[in-house]
Amino acid sequence: MNEMEDKPIKVLLVEDNPGDARLIREMLSEARSAQFDLKYADLLSTGLERLAAGEVDVLLLDLLLPDSHGLNTFARAYAQAPEIPIVVLTGIDDDTLAVKAVHEGAQDYLVKEQLDGNLLERSIRYAIERKRAVEQIKASLREKEILLRELHHRVKNNLQIICTLLYLQSGYIKDKEAFEMFRDSQNRIKSMALIHDKLYKFKDLGKIDIAEYIRELATDLFHSYGVKPDGIKLRINVHEVLLGVDTAIPIGLIINELVSNSLKHAFPDGKKGTIRVELLRSVNENSFTLIVGDNGLGFPKDLDFRNTGTLGLQLVITLVEQLKGTIELDRSRGTEFKITFSEVY
Ligand SMILES: Nc1ncnc2c1ncn2[C@@H]1O[C@H](COP(=O)(O)OP(=O)(O)O)[C@@H](O)[C@H]1O
Ligand SMILES: [Mg+2]
Repeated sequence: MNEMEDKPIKVLLVEDNPGDARLIREMLSEARSAQFDLKYADLLSTGLERLAAGEVDVLLLDLLLPDSHGLNTFARAYAQAPEIPIVVLTGIDDDTLAVKAVHEGAQDYLVKEQLDGNLLERSIRYAIERKRAVEQIKASLREKEILLRELHHRVKNNLQIICTLLYLQSGYIKDKEAFEMFRDSQNRIKSMALIHDKLYKFKDLGKIDIAEYIRELATDLFHSYGVKPDGIKLRINVHEVLLGVDTAIPIGLIINELVSNSLKHAFPDGKKGTIRVELLRSVNENSFTLIVGDNGLGFPKDLDFRNTGTLGLQLVITLVEQLKGTIELDRSRGTEFKITFSEVY
């Protein structure tokens, strides 16, 4: 029933001691559970050549060879053929070394003095099966990663389509206030689309390089509000931070609202100034401070920012709560919002 039972298992033995090699050949020729087709190399270099040529199901590897010693021998063989199961076969009875070898990817570690035919046979067959299972899991993981990237790509495309539809529709609006509402909605959706854009492009799946995201988001917003090059300046100071999607989406939306507000309200009548976005990681790695501020005309004195009755800041307050974070407003120099939060899981 098992294909191994009909087809001989191709074993490559790399061993410089002819006595040990003969012993192993005898053990394998007497094996009952499978047929073994043994090839032999007495140097690591010839062993590597045979590995490169293919046609090997399993590698039996001595660590002490004329041209290589210790775990380095294993590392070189593994690098040559990471998909081939390797059973280390050595005279060195050393537990620490054995654990290290297995940790680095060896399937087994056998000590020559304790070797017998049954043990060798079983070790080889298990090594092949285990390696096969691991390769299958790896392949299925790669497949899921590809699917997930594809999914983020599609979500991004769909959000972009919604954005375009809103944009086209807004072309028919005569009322300035309604037009601005449409623009706000477009920017909110764009800030989410950008998250999915970053998600499928980033090497570390599921994470977002938030520094890059903030730069792009803020630049997009300046564009959207038609800021002139000599008008409002943008200063960004962001630590290299990777955030998961559940944190990045609310943070993206918060930044979108606050930067939009600075662009919309802080510098009326073409006044000049600076908008600042900072994201700093605290010493305890897991907590962050986000600052969005401007040196414009200042937040209205009679307005409670937690209770404006307008959608933008209401959204910000709700998102900060969702992140279990805190928000403060400093009105001493223009308008500065300071938000602290931790990564949510
Ligand atoms: N950076 C800022 N500078 C001055 N005023 C601001 C600033 N941010 C917000 N405001 C004031 O807070 C109000 C509420 O903001 P928001 O809830 O985002 O609604 P909207 O932006 O649609 O007016 C704004 O209308 C504006 O008067
Ligand atoms: Mg607003």
